[in-house]
Amino acid sequence: MDLALIGGTGVQQIGFQHKENLDIETPYGTVNINVADVNGTEMAFLKRHGEGHTVPPHRINYRGNIWALKQIGVKRILATGAVGSLCSNFQVGEVTLIDQFLDFTKNRTQTFYEGGEQGVLHVDVSQPYCPDLREIITQAAQNINLNIKTSGVYVCTEGPRFETPAEIKMFRMLGGELVGMTGVPEVVLARELGMCYATIALVTNAAAGIINQPLTHAEVIDTMNVLGETVAKLVENTCTLLNKEQKCYCATSNKEAGLF
Ligand code: HPA
Repeated sequence: MDLALIGGTGVQQIGFQHKENLDIETPYGTVNINVADVNGTEMAFLKRHGEGHTVPPHRINYRGNIWALKQIGVKRILATGAVGSLCSNFQVGEVTLIDQFLDFTKNRTQTFYEGGEQGVLHVDVSQPYCPDLREIITQAAQNINLNIKTSGVYVCTEGPRFETPAEIKMFRMLGGELVGMTGVPEVVLARELGMCYATIALVTNAAAGIINQPLTHAEVIDTMNVLGETVAKLVENTCTLLNKEQKCYCATSNKEAGLF
């Protein structure tokens, strides 16, 4: 199975034909994956927050999830992520393929390479999100007449709380444009195992302090409900454009892994 979709908040059910459920054993625990049929293409579907959105961002089994996808043969991962906007360039309801991140997580293991027998890897993240995969998704968006943005600097916070307006102001000063809680280390771990990874970021709200009202998870969910169908169409069309080969850097990203 070449392709996977990691569905974030609001992308729990996206209407693809369900084929089977897999329980994949990994060194990091058991991971449940649904196999979907997208017009004849098999796609692994992993709910990032678990069944019924029961796992908060800081408790997601990032390593287990990515390991499980690798184990079943996945080469490309499409991930969705709800994000708050830090600036007027990104409006609620917009879709963007982020191209850089700033990592403000605090307590997450970021690597499979823990030294000892596993070796050490200083993986390259100059282009953390696969440029080839982003290009294909951009083409798919054009095919379905969907206006998307093709870059954006994503700030990943630890959560599960939302940010303070002062934090958002600081992130803006550092070049952040969008904020979410789950993109890191997922993207890094996929790179460590040689998989292409791209995030379809869905702007669900203005970040804290950008407009003068409290943030609620309900607001995030409401916007996601509107965007769900768009995501499904985008994923469906992306499937039709994918070829088998990974020609990008991602596949060989861990060739330097070693004991040094
Ligand atoms: N902050 C952090 N995570 C989020 C937000 C936000 O404003 N919106 C959706 N996910």
